[in-house]
Amino acid sequence: MTTPLLPGHPFVAYHNQQLHIENVAVQALAQTHGTPLFVYSKASMLHALAAYQRGFAGRNALICYGMKANSSLAVIQVFARAGCGFDIVSGGELERVLAAGAVPEKIIFSGVGKTRAEMRRALQVGIACFNVESEAELQVLSEVALSVGTTAPVSIRVNPNVDPKTHPYISTGLKGNKFGIAHERTVPVYLHAASLPGLKVVGIDCHIGSQITTVEPYLDAMDRVLDLVQAVEAAGVPIHHIDFGGGLGINYAGDTPPAADDLWKQLLAKLDARGYGGKQLMIEPGRSLVGNAGICVSEVLYLKPGEQKNFCIVDAAMNDLPRPAMYQAHHGIVPVVPREGAATTYQVVGPVCESGDWIGHDRDLHLQQGDFVAVLSAGAYCMSMASNYNTRGRAAELLVDGHSAQLIRQRETVADQMRHELLLK
Ligand code: LLP
Repeated sequence: MTTPLLPGHPFVAYHNQQLHIENVAVQALAQTHGTPLFVYSKASMLHALAAYQRGFAGRNALICYGMKANSSLAVIQVFARAGCGFDIVSGGELERVLAAGAVPEKIIFSGVGKTRAEMRRALQVGIACFNVESEAELQVLSEVALSVGTTAPVSIRVNPNVDPKTHPYISTGLKGNKFGIAHERTVPVYLHAASLPGLKVVGIDCHIGSQITTVEPYLDAMDRVLDLVQAVEAAGVPIHHIDFGGGLGINYAGDTPPAADDLWKQLLAKLDARGYGGKQLMIEPGRSLVGNAGICVSEVLYLKPGEQKNFCIVDAAMNDLPRPAMYQAHHGIVPVVPREGAATTYQVVGPVCESGDWIGHDRDLHLQQGDFVAVLSAGAYCMSMASNYNTRGRAAELLVDGHSAQLIRQRETVADQMRHELLLK
């Protein structure tokens, strides 16, 4: 019998009372590769991508994977081979996507703090577009482009002042945020950009936040962006593409985000109704492509009953799974091989020396020391945000494809961690 853990998501499921990713039993992977261990389903990633591809069927659209969600080379390769472009936010991310086979014409560069060196390298490889976030950045980018004898293709990120109704740390399209150019400043800033000799204006860009689970903020933002397209074009600056950012949420704990194709059906209807359906579209989804494709497998080190609370201490921690500590985020936690019998309510915590090092509060689980648990929805913003706090090495990663699992990142050793440090003379 097969029981999927997330509705409509068959890639992580119990099969014969054992957790599987696609057709591979997780227990055997943990025994072979050790824990903590990230395991990803390639089919899940392609399934998530397919929803966007259906949504954009027949349109001139480019899906640029927001690779900060999971920047492991093999994950980038999956999306590059599927024809995706990439949204990058640093020179490091640029080198990663190039190393994984991305074509420069499908790379767009976002972020509020691009350095001159990063701009120069991106211009030299010939990326598709810079999403510029301030007037000062426009000036610098124009200078750098002239210095390398080229012109930089630019979009300006506008801040539509829409509340995405998500956690404040991952909300980016409100007035008080550091991102984008204020709605009211848009036309003068476009006119300035069009007058700079090193720049070529090609598009408009917005990204209102992350883990968005309703359609309304997107529809509002689309209206506001289209108002700006109209105003900018009326002022004499043509806009070739509209980049609508990322942000679509996933199901962590009974969340019900719209499906990507349903969301885009509604957004495209609005674009068509307002006469902009023929423009090239770009999007930058991250979490919604990889979040539910991954789990983090961890071993139960100790069960520690307490007077007020019972603790389940596992070998994954906030350095591997930073989202609970940073955003009070919920991730499902399930046994890899469930046991018969009554559950106990546990605080699932890691070994790091901080009370903030928790992975799940008040989880009903029936576990014994040495069991493996899987932390669900760990494909996005876990490994890419992992750290070495407490001198803990980063976990290993596997990519499952059908019946086989491939190691895509070796476990980091202590020697790896100390490699760039120098002892005093
Ligand atoms: N484009 C831009 C300009 C972004 O800043 C982001 C994410 C994305 C695209 C992709 O957004 P997504 O589709 O993944 O929501 N660490 C946080 C999430 C931070 C999101 C940062 N920007 C978390 O773990 O929830």
